[in-house]
Amino acid sequence: MQIPKLIPLLFPLLLTPASALIGEHYACNDSLYGGPCETFATRLGVCANYPPGFSDKITSIKISKGQFCNFYDKLDCYGTALRVDHPGTANLRGKRFDNRARSWKCWEL
Ligand SMILES: *[C@@H]1O[C@H](CO)[C@@H](O)[C@H](O)[C@H]1NC(C)=O
Repeated sequence: MQIPKLIPLLFPLLLTPASALIGEHYACNDSLYGGPCETFATRLGVCANYPPGFSDKITSIKISKGQFCNFYDKLDCYGTALRVDHPGTANLRGKRFDNRARSWKCWEL
């Protein structure tokens, strides 16, 4: 099947509210949402690892409305976990978790 023919089929999926399936958060290297930042999205309840450049470096996090995420200090959602609810935190240092997260998982609140 040609790719252009797939696009109309995929369109309804793209319009599905992200919160229905996708856990999304915005993570930054520095406190107060400074430094390099990126939006990370995964299926709810599915573990994902941060890429190099973010792994072990994140200091502030915004969590999507209606969701919470657990952050783990080891890959593949092992190790010590920290739960962060929407809206997130401008400085993980207060929770002693700055520069520690290597993987995460999000759910609906
Ligand atoms: C990321 O944060 C660290 C402090 O934890 C800082 O030393 C480093 O310069 C920052 N990196 C970038 C690219 O901003």
